[in-house]
Amino acid sequence: MEENLSHKMDLDKINIHAEPPAEEPVRQYYYMAKCREWVQAFEQKNGRRPCFCIQTFGCQMNARDSEKLAGILARIGFVSQDHEEADLVLYNTCTVRDNANQRVYGRLGYVHSLKKKNPAMLIGLCGCMMQEETVIQKLKESYRFVDLVFGTHNIYKLAELLYARFSGETAVFDIEKENTRIVEALPVTRKYPYKSGVNIMYGCNNFCSYCIVPYVRGRERSRRPEEILDEIRALADDGVVEIMLLGQNVNSYGKTLSEPISFAALLRQVEQIDKIKRIRFMTSHPKDLSDELIETMRRSQKICRHLHLPLQSGSSRILKCMNRRYDQEQYLALAEKIRRNIPDISLTTDIIVGFPGETEEDFKETLKVVQKVRYESAFTFLYSKRTGTPAAAMEDQVPKEVAQDRFDRLLALIQQISRECCGRDTGRVMEALVEETNNQQEGFVTGRLSNNIMVHFPGPSDLVGRIVPVRLLEPRGFYYMGRMEEQ
Ligand code: SAH
Ligand code: SF4
Ligand code: F3S
Repeated sequence: MEENLSHKMDLDKINIHAEPPAEEPVRQYYYMAKCREWVQAFEQKNGRRPCFCIQTFGCQMNARDSEKLAGILARIGFVSQDHEEADLVLYNTCTVRDNANQRVYGRLGYVHSLKKKNPAMLIGLCGCMMQEETVIQKLKESYRFVDLVFGTHNIYKLAELLYARFSGETAVFDIEKENTRIVEALPVTRKYPYKSGVNIMYGCNNFCSYCIVPYVRGRERSRRPEEILDEIRALADDGVVEIMLLGQNVNSYGKTLSEPISFAALLRQVEQIDKIKRIRFMTSHPKDLSDELIETMRRSQKICRHLHLPLQSGSSRILKCMNRRYDQEQYLALAEKIRRNIPDISLTTDIIVGFPGETEEDFKETLKVVQKVRYESAFTFLYSKRTGTPAAAMEDQVPKEVAQDRFDRLLALIQQISRECCGRDTGRVMEALVEETNNQQEGFVTGRLSNNIMVHFPGPSDLVGRIVPVRLLEPRGFYYMGRMEEQ
């Protein structure tokens, strides 16, 4: 599914024998046209087009970046496939926790064995991990079979970098330290025809003391509202009914633009786009969540009844060490205000267990907040030490067994509350966006409710992408079984 963007250019009309244009995104279309020559030669030699496989780690930002990478490759003439025995394998990496990092090294070992059998295979690495100097050094020393390495700030350059590799450079490394430019209007291949992420801002300025994201994604930059709205209109014309506005801290959207605008005001403009039926967003930092946003959500028919509000810790002392800039009291007051104004909202969160210096008393404060807020669901993480962050240098790192024990206790509580919450709407009819056919149960489809809870119900596959009324018959822990109602 390629998006119909205004800058879409006809590659046949590009003079590939001229000098490369300096300006973007025209320059990248020029390189796409040049790479196409390589693809044609490959096709003549092998009797088929080359195939690519992108493996994505990490968050929604990376998922959206992968759609952009796939769009460029598809335009060049590569064919997508979902296993790693491809002619080009690209890992879009995450480094937020060490296990994300380790998984990439694991996959690299595996593709190395594939490359030994097929030396023409190309292996590329991009994304957040590549912004770390230690990683680059390790790759250069011990992973010399990698062909292409680039970071988070220059994914738009994929065609140019591939062309360098095709022209004989053995290993192409291209990492930019800062996100000095935002290049948009390149081809995008969406994973889902009916829903899409839309970046509204890049980077992060918050520097939570445990977090590596500001170092690998650079400084916070908002896109101009007109650009965002144009992109959403194009998506809507292309069949998208649900969009998710993406940013590490959407609540600070627009503050640094030359004509400042609030996130809530942006949401109200997005709502005006007729064909968009549902609006989601990720992620909201509690410190910047405004009354204006709550009011905008309360009045809206389109903004989904779901707010992801990362807590990280319930202890005010730990929150201070984390540099989160709110305390337990403020967080609880905020959650209470949101529930009071939007009673049907579902609140979800992220929690880190085992931050340096966390005592049993601190941890109990986290359990207390979880009990008070009663999250519909929550992601829990064991603290992972990230080199270069302030927390990595803190004393009193919590022993692994202690952190694991707390993690298990927290998870048990969260699951118990989720199960209790899920039954809340049994018997009601709610709208669900049908996302896929159910691969567990023949003749069933799976839909997502506005509050982000899933419902499985009997229905034909052509319902995928449609919003339909469903009666919620039976809660099953974290999802419902339901029945479609007459429309
Ligand atoms: N911008 C978002 C979070 C992005 S990272 C926000 O501020 O909410 C996603 C989640 O990963 C975070 O919410 C946090 O819970 C977790 N995380 C980040 N760094 C971590 C670390 N060093 N160890 C464990 N979990 C971490
Ligand atoms: Fe990381 Fe904090 Fe930024 Fe979220 S707000 S990305 S946790 S630094
Ligand atoms: Fe991971 Fe980068 Fe997202 S580090 S969580 S993929 S911003």
